[in-house]
Amino acid sequence: MKDSYGRNINYMRVSVTDRCDLKCSYCISEDRKFKEDILSFDEIINICREAAKLGISKIKITGGEPLLREDVSCLIKELRSVEGIESVTLTTNGVLLEKYAEDIYNAGTDSVNISLDCLDRDIYKKITGCDCLEKVLGGIDAAYDLNIPIKINTVLLKGINDSMDTMLLAKNRNIDVRFIELMPIGEGKKFEPMLNNKSLMIKRQYKRGNGPAVYYSLEGYKGSIGFISPLSSKFCAKCNRIRLTPEGFLKGCLCYDEGIDLKSTKDIGAAIEKVIKSKPKEHCFENTEMITEKKDMNEIGG
Ligand code: 5AD
Repeated sequence: MKDSYGRNINYMRVSVTDRCDLKCSYCISEDRKFKEDILSFDEIINICREAAKLGISKIKITGGEPLLREDVSCLIKELRSVEGIESVTLTTNGVLLEKYAEDIYNAGTDSVNISLDCLDRDIYKKITGCDCLEKVLGGIDAAYDLNIPIKINTVLLKGINDSMDTMLLAKNRNIDVRFIELMPIGEGKKFEPMLNNKSLMIKRQYKRGNGPAVYYSLEGYKGSIGFISPLSSKFCAKCNRIRLTPEGFLKGCLCYDEGIDLKSTKDIGAAIEKVIKSKPKEHCFENTEMITEKKDMNEIGG
């Protein structure tokens, strides 16, 4: 369905938990408290069914870390069979991916986005608070061997992971690596955004799919390198998404705290329609005092 600015809203990000087994300093706060009252899988499926009737055809399962929620592959399988849903994809930090890759594959997951900020063990540990780079690399291998399409998401932090070494994952395998500008949401406000594509040997720029990434092919690389630049190259005019938090709050934009609590709503379809109709024109990340969203990224769904 179209929103009031004529954008076709066909994509819903569904956060299934705010819990995470990593502690990335830009995403989750030190004194985090996890929610107890989160949506059941049945409630999520019901919401997705109503959303599909309104034209949502793509679902992204996210978190927190969605693989921490038991049997998330069952949820994916169920969603895959909802009428109108054409793709169900997963965003994960990859720590548990090796363990669950086969389940996810069997459930029909269309692609996996793996958040990985650095290939250096010490820097990875510094960013995430966990010494588990090897596990993530094992997860990437497992998903790759099953032929699940993979995208790596790297958030660049000035002076920390600006070597952009995750780019190397695109060299020998057909894996896309995307560099995401850090957004001033929650803990992210404490960091300076940076993006540097000038240092790359860029061969050819191209647009692919409906997403916000701009891709480049590189000499000698099998995969592509993408840039997602919500600040330096605002893509709100093409935004096609809404976001469901783990407690069932549906948001039209990452930047604002507006939305509807679907848990306390009788007519879920009407509520989804209302959120789509009142989706803001654009974010205001360039004007941090206007950002009304106070939550951290792990609570919303990165
Ligand atoms: N800005 C940009 N991306 C973020 N993520 C988490 N917090 C932020 C932020 N403030 C990313 C994660 C992951 C994705 C789900 O969201 O690194 O790649």
